[in-house]
Amino acid sequence: MSTANPAIAGGRAPFADAGLLIDLEPVVARELDRHLGVFREWMPHEYVPWSRGLDFDGPLGGEPWEPAQSPLTEVGRTAMVVNLLTEDNLPSYHREIATLFGRDGAWGTWVDRWTAEEARHSMVMRDYLLASRAVDPRALETARMTHMSGGFVSDNRHSALRSIAYVAFQELATRVSHRNTGRECGDPAGEQMLARIAADENLHMIFYRNLLAAALEVAPDQAMRAIAEVLTGFRMPGHGMPGFERAAATIALGGVYNLRVHLDDVLRPVVRYLKVLTLGALGPDGVQAQAEIGEYLDALDAQARNQEERRAVILARRAAVRQSSPR
Ligand SMILES: [Fe+2]
Ligand SMILES: [Fe+2]
Repeated sequence: MSTANPAIAGGRAPFADAGLLIDLEPVVARELDRHLGVFREWMPHEYVPWSRGLDFDGPLGGEPWEPAQSPLTEVGRTAMVVNLLTEDNLPSYHREIATLFGRDGAWGTWVDRWTAEEARHSMVMRDYLLASRAVDPRALETARMTHMSGGFVSDNRHSALRSIAYVAFQELATRVSHRNTGRECGDPAGEQMLARIAADENLHMIFYRNLLAAALEVAPDQAMRAIAEVLTGFRMPGHGMPGFERAAATIALGGVYNLRVHLDDVLRPVVRYLKVLTLGALGPDGVQAQAEIGEYLDALDAQARNQEERRAVILARRAAVRQSSPR
């Protein structure tokens, strides 16, 4: 593969790295075959506790939803809604990657296959939440309409390299978020359902991580710069949803997803696997980007420690209030 591809050598101008998509096409074809070989087929309907279901109020005259009906913890309920609304925006994600990666050849096959796999996630989560009466169905639907009507625009839509780097980290972030939500949610059926989704997200992460590894070989300096930019500006795909900041604070305090989780369970595993901090044979910009990544991870570690200290104080205060309040 040539790193002297004029489209790549053009740097960070819009779509300047479009030639990289052509260079990576054989890797996409190989990874797609590998992915389809290890993907385990599963049926969303098998993960929904239908026997808990009841008609709701409205045309069917059923029972209105009440918070006491929810089998979930407060943190689990909040995280489950954030995760579902994030999955709900799939049409926007599809539009973004179809526009960038194209609809032809192996790239196009991957885009459609990935979309089909992802569609199961919102499907099974919504069925689970409604059948188990875990969340307010009206509030959920209102939030979905607002969130999807706003659409999603990728921060990285101008660059194939940045987009590949972003999704490698983001798929792992999504996996960890689903997995930890399941552990925290307080319902074994919910945990089992989220663990199944998390297994899909893990395969998506591996696909994109392997693609990023190939990009580091084809265009090491540009890929290193893309990783530095993605890490330092990382935002979860659901950041635009209604009430995101407040929900994110609850999720962080609950230990489902916070700076420590982001650093230790998402950023560091990918950085380590790709040997981002130790890769040699880089040009000046690659070396510079590599140093920036190292500095960023160190700074994030300090921030994560501060957040952990604050979290410990808040949790201790809450425990003390619970102990002193009359039963
Ligand atoms: Fe998903
Ligand atoms: Fe995914």
